Amino acid sequence: MTARIIPITDSRGARPSRTVQAPAAADAGAGLLDRLQRPLLDLRISVTDRCNFRCVYCMPRETFDQDYPYVPHAELLSFEEITRLARIFVRRGTRKIRLTGGEPLLRRDLESLVHMLAGLRAELGAPLDLALTTNGSLLKRKAGALAEAGLNRVTVSLDALDDTIFRSMSDVDFPVAQVLEGIEAARAAGLGPVKVNMVVKRGLNDGQVLPMARYLRERGHVLRFIEYMDVGNSNGWRLDDVLTSDRILEQIDAEMPLEPVATDEAGTVAQRWRYRDGSGEIGTISSISRAFCGDCTRARLSTEGSLYLCLFGDQGHDLRGLLRAGATDPQMAAAIGQIWSERADRYSELRSAATAMPARRIEMSYIGG
Ligand code: GTP
Ligand code: 5AD
Ligand code: SF4
Ligand code: SF4
Repeated sequence: MTARIIPITDSRGARPSRTVQAPAAADAGAGLLDRLQRPLLDLRISVTDRCNFRCVYCMPRETFDQDYPYVPHAELLSFEEITRLARIFVRRGTRKIRLTGGEPLLRRDLESLVHMLAGLRAELGAPLDLALTTNGSLLKRKAGALAEAGLNRVTVSLDALDDTIFRSMSDVDFPVAQVLEGIEAARAAGLGPVKVNMVVKRGLNDGQVLPMARYLRERGHVLRFIEYMDVGNSNGWRLDDVLTSDRILEQIDAEMPLEPVATDEAGTVAQRWRYRDGSGEIGTISSISRAFCGDCTRARLSTEGSLYLCLFGDQGHDLRGLLRAGATDPQMAAAIGQIWSERADRYSELRSAATAMPARRIEMSYIGG
């Protein structure tokens, strides 16, 4: 490859994506390690930057209004392009693919993409865990087809059981009951155990911690509490709005005693806890109070095919440009290998150390939650 690729003009919060060139000598071997010796095991793909919710911590309505520059349809990676890139990542050691957004079920015919990705298991003889993060609003309708297409599991974002509090977080008039029906449909379709992600914002939904824990424990779902993070540029994040995992665990433990679950799974974001009476487990995701960059094995592919090495990245790497300029698979593999080998990101750890932070960050709906 000699042609230089025109960078994607990125109006969604960060600098234009970096042009990627295929290295001259194509080292397309397997197994990749970054500069901190972290393997690339987990690829998160944002299939749309649009969402039918307007969660205050993610897509606040004031910013994500009618004039927001969503990625135009022609700029999206096609299903064929996504599958081709996924194949290259899986060949290089990726074992987990999560489809996210925005709301991924807004992307038409998503089950076809799932089917194409699931086909990589047999084609490459590699185990591949296929998961989806969704707000659950369309899940009741879609769960069966997704499971049939080869999806393994779903994670549903739900921040409250109470409709009024739910609305204060999601900023839409959508009944919680329908999200709950989506969760049950997913379980019935074999997409369980369903994980439910609850972002806790102090003063808004912290009173829902116990009701959510009680409700989901009874039904055998795994509730995970997420510390409200300073992602993107638009949510007006303040440290005072964060309810730390320790405070949440205290509340739950006082009513439903907990003990830690020992795990040696690499690259997981959640710390696991089980109810001492054996009735299930919960997780805490403590990006603010206990950074987990040390074993971060995740890369993110944006809606328009730019590769981000950190959730808090301010610049992506334009893989779509390289694809559309005619790069071969070995050339793509070598370029991805080179990008990963230079990775040294560890934003959450640096934030804890109060070091200078990038001034502009990419929005989470664009690179995937
Ligand atoms: P599993 O595949 O089920 O293990 O998923 P997971 O543990 O990776 O969790 P999930 O994909 O549901 O992510 C949950 C939440 O954790 C995300 O929505 C983010 O809020 C946060 N999160 C995930 N990955 C990262 C990361 O790399 N860095 C930071 N700071 N937060 C992350
Ligand atoms: N802080 C924490 N998690 C967030 N998400 C989006 N924005 C934030 C934020 N500011 C995550 C939530 C949600 C998923 C889609 O994205 O986990 O469930
Ligand atoms: Fe949509 Fe999920 Fe973001 Fe809420 S958190 S606005 S449901 S992408
Ligand atoms: Fe990984 Fe960046 Fe999150 Fe740290 S802050 S865990 S490096 S995505």
